[in-house]
Amino acid sequence: MSASVGVSRQHARLSEGVRTGPHEGPEELLGETGEGRGVPDGSQARERPTVTRREFLLNALMITAFGATAVAIADAAIRFLIPPARPAGKAEATEIAKTDEVAPGAAKPFVYDQIQCLLINLNDGFRAFSRVCTHLSCNVDWDPGSHVFACPCHAGVFDANGRNIAGPPPKPLARVKLRVAGDKIIAGGWE
Ligand code: FES
Repeated sequence: MSASVGVSRQHARLSEGVRTGPHEGPEELLGETGEGRGVPDGSQARERPTVTRREFLLNALMITAFGATAVAIADAAIRFLIPPARPAGKAEATEIAKTDEVAPGAAKPFVYDQIQCLLINLNDGFRAFSRVCTHLSCNVDWDPGSHVFACPCHAGVFDANGRNIAGPPPKPLARVKLRVAGDKIIAGGWE
């Protein structure tokens, strides 16, 4: 009997403490005006915003910054893995060889406008092309026997005019404009 009375008193004290305690329980849910005293119903709980406007703007800002960074990294990676067949912009005139430097049917590698290229000497004159395969940018080689450019990566083939004639390359090799001045062969831009 005395034990049950003690438990009841303790329960009453605890209940009172919950109702009047300064930082816990229902008091914590009161508005500034004191309205809504007591436990809110379900609709009040649902109306309470879970994300403030400030948090929303911060999240949007972070997502935008993250997206822009990801795009920049992806762009740099693609440029590194698949370099352009030729740079954009105007290339300067540059001497790339002497006329007696390349035997008929043969080829000479050179770098023009930061691009690996090949100069070939055919019966009708000199031609030069970017070596960068238009499939996945491996360097093509000149085959003096069959007079084609062959790509070692996926068996792409280009004819002596740089046209893609076999394999996966989707378009011709970039061609370098040439002119002969005396005994000099001069590259002067891209066709
Ligand atoms: S990279 Fe030349 S055929 Fe694929």
